[in-house]
Amino acid sequence: PWHHQVTSDGHLVLLQADRAAEGNYSCHDNRGRLIRTTRLRLGHPPGLLNVSCRVSNHSLVLCSWVESVKTLLPAQYHTSYSQVRMCVVSSPPQKQCTITDPTMWQHYHNINITETNPLGSQTTILVVKFHELLQPDPPEAVTAVYWTYPASWLHDAVPFPLRFQLRYRPVGFSTWSTVESKASPLLITDALAGHAHQLQVRAQDDINPDSQWSDWSPLLQACPWSGENTSVTVFSLLSPLGSEEDGGSLLILLALFAGIILVLVSSLSVLMWVRQRRRDNVTKQELTSMVKMKSMPI
Ligand SMILES: *[C@@H]1O[C@H](CO)[C@@H](O)[C@H](O)[C@H]1NC(C)=O
Ligand SMILES: *[C@@H]1O[C@H](CO)[C@@H](O)[C@H](O)[C@H]1NC(C)=O
Ligand SMILES: *[C@@H]1O[C@H](CO)[C@@H](O)[C@H](O)[C@H]1NC(C)=O
Ligand SMILES: *[C@@H]1O[C@H](CO)[C@@H](O)[C@H](O)[C@H]1NC(C)=O
Repeated sequence: PWHHQVTSDGHLVLLQADRAAEGNYSCHDNRGRLIRTTRLRLGHPPGLLNVSCRVSNHSLVLCSWVESVKTLLPAQYHTSYSQVRMCVVSSPPQKQCTITDPTMWQHYHNINITETNPLGSQTTILVVKFHELLQPDPPEAVTAVYWTYPASWLHDAVPFPLRFQLRYRPVGFSTWSTVESKASPLLITDALAGHAHQLQVRAQDDINPDSQWSDWSPLLQACPWSGENTSVTVFSLLSPLGSEEDGGSLLILLALFAGIILVLVSSLSVLMWVRQRRRDNVTKQELTSMVKMKSMPI
C-alpha cells in the first residue's frame, strides 16, 4: 500500500513510509523461492536528553532523563561524570544513573550521557553543582509539633545537621506564621486556642546555605489546647496516627506510674518488716538476758 520503487540493483525503496509499514519483508526470485527475509523497524536517531539530578543526601546523586525526541527504537546509554568517574546506569528501562559518594564541594560537575541506537548516537552534557542541588526529603512522622529526620538523610557515616522551618495557620486563614528551629519538638506560644490549625515542616542542610529546602511535609491538622497558664499553647492531635501515638505514650506513662507506686509500696513494706524483725529480736534478747539474770545464782 506504500509508494515504493524497486531499483535495478535489487533495492526496495519505500517513499513516505510510516510506522504501519513496519514488519517482515521478504524477497523472492522469479520462481517464487525465498531469497531473504528482513524485519523493518522505523524510528529516529537520538536527540538531546532532558536530564535532571536529585541529591537527597551527601552520599548519593540520582540523575534521570527523558528523551526529547521519541526515537521508538531500543537504545543504550553510556554515562560518566567529571570525565572519568562513574554514574551507574540502572537496569532496564535504563532511564537513570546513580553516583555514590560524590565529591560534593567541587564547584562544577559535567554529567555526560551518550544515547546510542541503530541510527546514531547523541551526547548530552549537563553542568551541575551538587551542593546547590542538595535537597533533603521532607521531615517525616510529623506530629504537633514533633518530627524526625527524613530516612534518606539518616545513614551517613557523619550525620549532617538539618535546620527546619515550621509553618502553621488556623484552618480557614490564608497567611502562614513561620518559625525556624534546629530541633524537634517545638513549642508554639501564639496559636489560637480552640481553633484547628494546619502545620507543615521542611528541612535544609544546616551548613550549606546554597542547598535547597525540602518540599513541605504533608499537611497536618491539629488543635491547640490551653493549660492553666494561658500564654502557652500546647497542641493536641486530631490525626489518627498522632492520637494513636499519644494513646501509646499515655499508656507508657500510666504503666511507669503504676510501676513506681508498686516499687514504693513494696520497699515500704520490706522496711517495716525489717524494723519489726529487729524490734522482735531486741525484745527476745532482752527476754533471754532477763531469764539469764533470773537463773543466775544470787
Ligand atoms: C517477523 O519475523 C520474526 C522472526 O524473524 C517473527 O518473530 C515475527 O513474529 C514476525 N513478525 C510478523 C509481524 O510476522
Ligand atoms: C524536562 O523535564 C522536566 C521534568 O523532569 C520538565 O518540567 C521540563 O519541561 C522538561 N523540559 C523539556 C525541554 O522537555
Ligand atoms: C562524553 O562521553 C562520550 C562517550 O563516552 C565521549 O566520547 C565524549 O568525549 C565525552 N565528552 C565529554 C565532554 O566528556
Ligand atoms: C541517600 O538517599 C537515597 C535515596 O535518595 C537512599 O536510598 C540512601 O540510602 C541514602 N543514603 C544514606 C547514606 O542515607
